Amino acid sequence: MKIRFQLNGQEQRLDVDGDLRALDVLREHCGVTGPKEGCGTGECGACAVWMDGVTRLSCLTLAAQLDGRDVTTAEGLATDGPHPVQAALAELGGVQCGYCTPGIVMTAAELLARDANPDRDAIRRAVSGNLCRCTGYHKIVDAVEEAAQTMRAAQEDK
Ligand code: FES
Ligand code: FES
Repeated sequence: MKIRFQLNGQEQRLDVDGDLRALDVLREHCGVTGPKEGCGTGECGACAVWMDGVTRLSCLTLAAQLDGRDVTTAEGLATDGPHPVQAALAELGGVQCGYCTPGIVMTAAELLARDANPDRDAIRRAVSGNLCRCTGYHKIVDAVEEAAQTMRAAQEDK
């Protein structure tokens, strides 16, 4: 089937099997490698992307469901330099092997788009669907808190 969607601000027009997973469309047809295959069954969050600004698991989304949507991956958050969440994760040691990181970035950035000042419990709840085997989450929560502060300061400077 023919599908057309925005990916990180660029129009994509593809002719693909509508039953293909969005994860495969993005990685194999569009060449973005931010969304990762972890479990493939909706358990780990490594494949998270935004669809129309809302975090979705691309391993559970069909190619047909991309049609007409505005899709953002971790690459799309970093077009003007790293997103504050990406910068804080790198600075505070919230990235180790990095496999979970793009999914965590999408989830955390969506949280901060909705809530400029989440407390640590809200951050933990938000990232609870993103499995990280390396960090123990403490540094991830620290980084999201720091990113929230950075983003609030930037807003105040405007
Ligand atoms: S690969 Fe999609 S949730 Fe694990
Ligand atoms: S940094 Fe390795 S899984 Fe999270």
